[in-house]
Amino acid sequence: MRQILLTGGTGNLGRAIIQSGKFKNLLTPSSTELDICDQNQVRLYLEQNDIGYIIHAAALARLTGCENAPAEAIRKNIIGTSNLVSSVLSRECRSGKSIRFLQISSDGVYEGTEGGYTEDGPTIPKTNYGWSKLGAECAVRLLDNYCIIRTRFFDKKNIPFETSASDIYTSKISLDELVLHVYQILLSDYIGVLNVGGNKISDFDCHKNYKLSIKECLRLDIVKEVPFEVPKDISMDTSKFIQLLDTLNAKH
Ligand SMILES: NC(=O)c1ccc[n+]([C@@H]2O[C@H](COP(=O)([O-])OP(=O)(O)OC[C@H]3O[C@@H](n4cnc5c(N)ncnc54)[C@H](OP(=O)(O)O)[C@@H]3O)[C@@H](O)[C@H]2O)c1
Repeated sequence: MRQILLTGGTGNLGRAIIQSGKFKNLLTPSSTELDICDQNQVRLYLEQNDIGYIIHAAALARLTGCENAPAEAIRKNIIGTSNLVSSVLSRECRSGKSIRFLQISSDGVYEGTEGGYTEDGPTIPKTNYGWSKLGAECAVRLLDNYCIIRTRFFDKKNIPFETSASDIYTSKISLDELVLHVYQILLSDYIGVLNVGGNKISDFDCHKNYKLSIKECLRLDIVKEVPFEVPKDISMDTSKFIQLLDTLNAKH
């Protein structure tokens, strides 16, 4: 199997991918060894390695960070991703070999009011983070062999809140499940956008299963505390994803 390049290996998702041990031939350069904002470095890295797959998990992934520093959100999320995509296109052209690209995107590209969002429906982000992830998606769509995974995840072992809202709904998925699905999607031939998540659930109902001490609050309590727009219902229609899993399971 050709090498898999993972960006963002020191982040929450990147660490879980590495620790899962599922991914063989994994290259996990630090952000100094491969700064996605440095177009030359990215181009050279792709020239010097025989990469067949990219899992692009590096980003400015914090909502507050993107709200307070929009230029940084553009630099890392839009320009950084575009640098990778441009280098993939050149490398594919020179080597004649395809590189499969998995973009870790976000449910934040959806409006977050009504829920049940489908991959082909409108994308109307309400935050700088959402816009910058949508900008990244635009570049990735210029590739031939890509999958954009729109998701939201949580770590069962580390829920860093003391309160969670019982009236904010998402399709969040645990980190360990997401890692497994990233692996399945990487090896599949699915091309396009995929909502990857679990059933619609409130933040409180989800988190209370893993952190007994968590207290219930309301969305309005959170709105007062943060500088970004908080969704009411950003749950996704995951039927395409479920259909893909059924197809993959039937093959094995
Ligand atoms: N957390 C969520 O619930 C969630 C939901 C949906 C989608 N996502 C997406 O999932 C991905 C992973 O999220 P996460 O929570 O694991 O993020 P994270 O913990 O904040 O990690 C971000 C990663 O990006 C790397 N990075 C930042 N700037 C870079 C640069 N210029 N060059 C190379 N690497 C750079 C960081 O490296 P350093 O440590 O060296 O800075 C770090 O490894 C992101 O694309 C995020 O948008 C996250």
